Amino acid sequence: MELVPLGPGFGVEVRGVSILDVASDGDAYKAVRAAFEDHSLLLFRDQPIADDIQVAYSRAFGPLELTKVASLGAGGFYSRLTNVGAHGEIVPPTDRQVLVAQANALWHTDSSFKRTPALASVLSARVLPGQDGDTEFTSTRLAWERLPGELRGKLQDAVATHSYANSRDQIHPDLANAEERKALPPVRWRMNWLNPVNGRRALYIASHAYAIDGMDDRDARQLLAELMDETTRPEFVYVHKWRTGDVVMWDNRAMLHRGRPWDYSKERSMVRTTISATAADGLDQVKPPPTVH
Ligand code: OGA
Ligand code: MN
Repeated sequence: MELVPLGPGFGVEVRGVSILDVASDGDAYKAVRAAFEDHSLLLFRDQPIADDIQVAYSRAFGPLELTKVASLGAGGFYSRLTNVGAHGEIVPPTDRQVLVAQANALWHTDSSFKRTPALASVLSARVLPGQDGDTEFTSTRLAWERLPGELRGKLQDAVATHSYANSRDQIHPDLANAEERKALPPVRWRMNWLNPVNGRRALYIASHAYAIDGMDDRDARQLLAELMDETTRPEFVYVHKWRTGDVVMWDNRAMLHRGRPWDYSKERSMVRTTISATAADGLDQVKPPPTVH
C-alpha cells in the first residue's frame, strides 16, 4: 500500500489496495483503517464501484447508518445525491433535490444532528457533470490544534446543540419538512472529539450547530461563525475534483466538508454510505456530561 498526500496536512490517495481488498482481507482493512485514523480522508481512484461493493467496504469499519426520513434512499444503507428525478429527468433548479445539494454546500460534518453521529462517510462518484461539483474538505483536528491554548481550554468541556432544521432553514424555510423536524430533534455534543486511537482532539462543529450551553444565543452564534471561518480558511482546504470511479472516505469526527455548485441542468449523481460512531470511536467522549440539577 502506498499513501500519496493530498491536502494541507491531511488526506491521502491510497494506492495498491482497492476497496474490494478492504472488504475481503483483514490485513488490508487494518492498514487502511490506520491510514484513516492518521489522515482523516482517503481517496481511492478507478474503483469498480457498485452499491454492493460500496456497502461491503463500508461495513468493515463499523455499523452502517440508515438514511434518514424524507431523503432519497430513506431507511436503507444508500443516500442518493442526485439531480435526476424518479422518471430519469433532470429536476428543475427549484426542486427539493437541488435544494438538498445547496444545503450540502454549507460546511458541515455528516449526521451531527442524529442521536448517533457518524464515524465516517464513503462517497462514490457515479455520474459527473463534466466540470464543477467539486467537494471541499478541511481538518477540524488541525483547526483545534491551531486554536490559542486559552480558547482550547474553554472549549474542552463546552457543549453545542446541533439540529438538522438549523442548516436547512438557512437554504429554504420548507426544506426541512414536518416529518424531518419531528424525527430529528436537536442533539447536544461536546465541541471537540477525542480520537481514542491517537489521543488527538478535533473541533466538533457544523452548519447544524447553533447554540452553546451557558452562553447567550447571539454570542454562541458569533463564536461558532468565527470558529467555522477560521477552520475553513482557503489555505486549509483540499478541493476534490471528482473522476468517475473515485471513492472518497472521510472521518466525520475530524473533518468538515461541503459540495460546490455545478450547472444543475447537467446530471451529477453520487452515492453515500455512512458508518455510525461507536464507543470505540470515542462516541462516549463526545456525549456531554450529565446535567446536574
Ligand atoms: C455528502 C456531501 C457533498 C457533495 O455526501 O455528505 O455533503 O459534493 N456531499 O456531493
Ligand atoms: Mn455531507
